[in-house]
Amino acid sequence: MATNKNGIFTGKVAFVTGGASGIGRATALAFARAGASVVVADISEQGAQETVRLIEEIGGRAIAVRCDVTQTEEVKTALDRTIEAFGRLDAAFNNAGIEQAPMATADIPEVEWDRVIAVNLRGVFLCMKYEIPLMLKQGGGAIVNTSSGAGIKGFRDGAAYVTAKHGVIGLTRSAALDYVSHNIRINAICPGITSTPMIERIIGGDDVMREQLLAQEPAGRMAHPEEIANAVVWLCSDAASFVVGHALVIDGGQTV
Ligand code: NAI
Repeated sequence: MATNKNGIFTGKVAFVTGGASGIGRATALAFARAGASVVVADISEQGAQETVRLIEEIGGRAIAVRCDVTQTEEVKTALDRTIEAFGRLDAAFNNAGIEQAPMATADIPEVEWDRVIAVNLRGVFLCMKYEIPLMLKQGGGAIVNTSSGAGIKGFRDGAAYVTAKHGVIGLTRSAALDYVSHNIRINAICPGITSTPMIERIIGGDDVMREQLLAQEPAGRMAHPEEIANAVVWLCSDAASFVVGHALVIDGGQTV
């Protein structure tokens, strides 16, 4: 589907972290289809450039920016580049994330704990810290942060990931209250098991593991990344104008 010249995001600018792969790439494309100019920010420059190519292929406008969300200077630079290229920031999707090496809580090395929290929680905070002033300056905006089913329930062998994703919901709710009166809406999403490179790494070609994961999904299948992307675009749109501090579960019934 081509980009929409009269779309709900025409003339607007979207910033997507983790935009080189999976849910982030699908969302960058969905924003472009809705008319937005898109900044694809990722630690993987090659992947980000491929997302830009896919956007350009459907007639959209995008730039790739290298950004490690754990590094303050890289986050600031990526947002500076956003303003230089497109002049504003209307929607930010703070989505970059990593999986945890599966192990019971007491076995998690401190370095693994710190790595997962740094990307999945501190990274979301850092991005918001520098996105919000830009939105305040222009009079508003919308932010969506990626949590997970692991943000609302525990999972065995996943304490660091689960802690980070629960944290994203707390961070989202507090930040939402801080800025709702400034016309900035901040929400989170909690995807279920979604067919992305991350999930394929977790499955690691193990059919038993694949069956175990699928057994968690009452829908009997994984989500397509586009099904998550649609929700993010909606949350950032005016159609969701009174949705504030919400953690939207998109999981085919996994956590019902
Ligand atoms: P993915 O591995 O396909 O994509 C993640 C992207 O984040 C990659 O492009 C990667 O290069 C980037 N990234 C990793 N560390 C980064 C850093 N420090 N700075 C900037 N970019 C970085 O993963 P997927 O599945 O698309 O996941 C996206 C988000 O959705 C993550 O936050 C993940 O925790 C969350 N999620 C995924 C689910 C799934 O089943 N796939 C379910 C629930 C949540």
